[in-house]
Amino acid sequence: SIGPVAELALVNANVTPDGFTRLAVLPNGLLPGPPITGYKGDNFKINVHNYLTDHTMNETATVHWHGIYQHGTNWADGTSMVSQCPLTSGDSFLYDFSVPDQAGTFWYHSHEGLQYCDGLRGPFIVYDPHDPHKDLYDVDDDNTIITLFDWYHEPALEIPLFGNPDSILINGMGRSLNDSVSPLSVITVTPGLRYRFRLISMSCNPYFNFTIDGHNFTIIEADGQNTQPLPGINFVQIHSGQRYSFILEANQPIANYWIRAPAESESLSPTPPPQPGMAILRYRGAPEVEPETKSELVQYPLIETNLHALTNPAAPGVPTIDGADVDINLNVTFNLTELTYYVNDYTFAKPPVPILLQILSGKYAAQDLLPAGAVYTLPRNKTIQVTMPGGVFPAQHPMHLHGSSFSVIKSAGTGPADVGYNFVDPVRRDTVNIGLAGDFVTIRFDTHNPGPWMLHCHIDFHLYMGYAIVFAEDPEDTRHVNHPPPAWNELCPKYDTLPPAD
Ligand code: C2O
Repeated sequence: SIGPVAELALVNANVTPDGFTRLAVLPNGLLPGPPITGYKGDNFKINVHNYLTDHTMNETATVHWHGIYQHGTNWADGTSMVSQCPLTSGDSFLYDFSVPDQAGTFWYHSHEGLQYCDGLRGPFIVYDPHDPHKDLYDVDDDNTIITLFDWYHEPALEIPLFGNPDSILINGMGRSLNDSVSPLSVITVTPGLRYRFRLISMSCNPYFNFTIDGHNFTIIEADGQNTQPLPGINFVQIHSGQRYSFILEANQPIANYWIRAPAESESLSPTPPPQPGMAILRYRGAPEVEPETKSELVQYPLIETNLHALTNPAAPGVPTIDGADVDINLNVTFNLTELTYYVNDYTFAKPPVPILLQILSGKYAAQDLLPAGAVYTLPRNKTIQVTMPGGVFPAQHPMHLHGSSFSVIKSAGTGPADVGYNFVDPVRRDTVNIGLAGDFVTIRFDTHNPGPWMLHCHIDFHLYMGYAIVFAEDPEDTRHVNHPPPAWNELCPKYDTLPPAD
């Protein structure tokens, strides 16, 4: 791993993760990119160099640090045309931010076009020397990170919009259809030890039904938040952008066990689905062969749709039953002809100037900020409630908020919009599956981080089709709280003066 001070070179290079060779967009030449690690309290300085030359996968790029609050450093959020212009080929950009009050499992990825589907993604881990769950595990290192993602044999911009992936990769290794020989990721454990696994979905589209044959786990973290330990789990459904830490005790007979991650999605086409993501859990002393274990699951217990399964009593700012200060309802539609999502009648199209720069140039009112209708201003130090309907054509959507985590006070699977809240110990996270048609999910968060922050579907194809809004928190103070003050000609080297206010 690298970090907290690191160089990240974005390059176009060939990879063969599933028996098929293609050109990709790779951080430091790797798929996934190298884990970036540090400790709670660290100042991260990640110097990103854009050496990309292939325009079919975007030559321009940004890097977003998924789940990191960027308190006071909105400019380092890495969101193309929201917090900065994308880096052009040949540019470098120093992302310089502190992580004073977060620890857990995060990741980084391109936030430009569909570029992370073409490779630009990697783990971002913040260790906590005072982790309250530390006595539950013996081992927690780079070898216990498990990344899951869908992989395509063509550049994402060229595949049919609801096309099936060609393979599912675990730690960057997998097998496309009819391939039974490509090497798979092997995670080796020592009998008797307790491991903290960090599971990250870097999916562009499907979710994964993750299991390990013969093993149960205890979940201790969701999206960078410690949860009440949830033991006895043998199945984790994980959607794009989500993360979990779980404890696995290597307490089974010495052997090889399959790790499985079949892809699921309501929006995949009916053509043959890809082989499930597969990897190998190998006990030290077992022969170096593929497992012969069978999956024993008969029933899938869904933890995310049970408001009281995964809980976080210690979450900051647990909402009370009292009303929120600002109550926002999102109505989402999909226009099949335009292949465009609309949130409250507006779609998120790239603005001509990044929203942060629009704000710094003196535009503070929602109706003056572009893209029209997709920017909501929020007051500071208030409780915001957002209710989102599930199942809009054609999928379950994992909604991700930048700049803050949120409490899930109502989850999918708990009935109509006005029943079934948890105000006592709601799980705290930054990406939530809002479920199927008829489901409603309600989240709450407090504003204390001026700047423009996206709320969007993390299925990258849906974001690309406009399924996003931006919360511009306290626009008037955005200039004063951003440090170091962003120089607009660094955020957007093509402008040599701050763009005019209109
Ligand atoms: Cu992980 Cu806006 O994204």
